[in-house]
Amino acid sequence: MAALFTPFTIRAAEMRNRLWVSPMCQYSAQDGLPGEWHHVHLAQFASGGAGLVMAEATAVSPEGRISPDDTGIWSDAHRDAWAPIAAAIRARGAAAGIQLAHAGRKASTWSPLTDGRGSVPVAEGGWETLGPSAIAYEGYATPREMTPADIDAVVADFIAAARRAADAGFTVLEVHAAHGYLLHTFLSPLSNTRTDEYGGPLAGRAHLLLRIVEAVRRETPDIALFVRFSASDWAEGGWSVEDTVQVAQWAADRGADFFDVSSGGLVAHQRITLGPGYQVAFARRLREAGLAVNAVGLIDSGAHAEQVLVDGDADAVMSGREWLRDPHFGLRAAGELGVSDAPWPPQYARARRH
Ligand SMILES: Cc1cc2nc3c(=O)[nH]c(=O)nc-3n(C[C@H](O)[C@H](O)[C@H](O)COP(=O)(O)O)c2cc1C
Repeated sequence: MAALFTPFTIRAAEMRNRLWVSPMCQYSAQDGLPGEWHHVHLAQFASGGAGLVMAEATAVSPEGRISPDDTGIWSDAHRDAWAPIAAAIRARGAAAGIQLAHAGRKASTWSPLTDGRGSVPVAEGGWETLGPSAIAYEGYATPREMTPADIDAVVADFIAAARRAADAGFTVLEVHAAHGYLLHTFLSPLSNTRTDEYGGPLAGRAHLLLRIVEAVRRETPDIALFVRFSASDWAEGGWSVEDTVQVAQWAADRGADFFDVSSGGLVAHQRITLGPGYQVAFARRLREAGLAVNAVGLIDSGAHAEQVLVDGDADAVMSGREWLRDPHFGLRAAGELGVSDAPWPPQYARARRH
């Protein structure tokens, strides 16, 4: 019996196993609308045995996109474009999730699929970026310090996005508070030097995220609510895993169910120690504090993912690039672990070796 292939249920979300697809931007949307690329890309992971397929960082407002080619969910047309994608994921037996995001001071950048680097000028289709303070990510345009009205608008955008995502058929919503995007810049003292109720001590810097968690929970009571954190800025004077534990506990008190533990992305001068499972210890620290978590980052085999669970480091594992290398990673991992009731689509049964 493999721990990786035991089910996990959170509210309306039923995950048939604990090997999940991490959110991955495709930079392939038009006006924020997902299209046939996203449909095929995401549905194939469900056919490939994933327990949960998390759609990419999806902007709650046009100015919340990382690049002009990012997906969004700021109108009913976006909701309607996502609905068949969520249905295709569910029809193939996986839970459908979507990461709700605002890129903050790292918005309005050229997509990596273009030749451009850094910020897109306004004259070329870019836009003014927002942040807690007028402090730029190294090499990018300086954001405008948000007013209380800007902050209220972002909270309203997250509420509307959550409503639309739930209506589109997603049962997992993940608030993106990692990788140097808007909510992470509020959390970290390296990017937030505000002196009002959204800055200063930890509770102040966490205030915007906690408002959003509370409001999304109220708006969509049945969905599984995840928060992705960067558990470390990997930089002197930055956000730490102990800060993450405290704010995750506050978020859990306000209705967050589950924490997706990543790291980094806030500053270009970060010094990350990379290696297999390099973020697992962060997940374990949150789990020791009584929180439900997934580990993510360089976990590329069924055996490694299984070990993370057996060791009690996490409740589930997300992988990103391994699913790109092999969209049937879930079926392969099940074979590797000798799972007899692996989620092979009946159409593919003749290809099964075990
Ligand atoms: C192409 C690509 C796009 C990504 N886009 C996102 C994203 O939209 N949101 C996010 O939180 N992380 C994003 N990430 C990070 C992944 O979700 C994941 O955390 C990271 O790749 C580490 O896991 P891995 O070693 O299994 O790939 C992206 C990674 C890749 C490779």
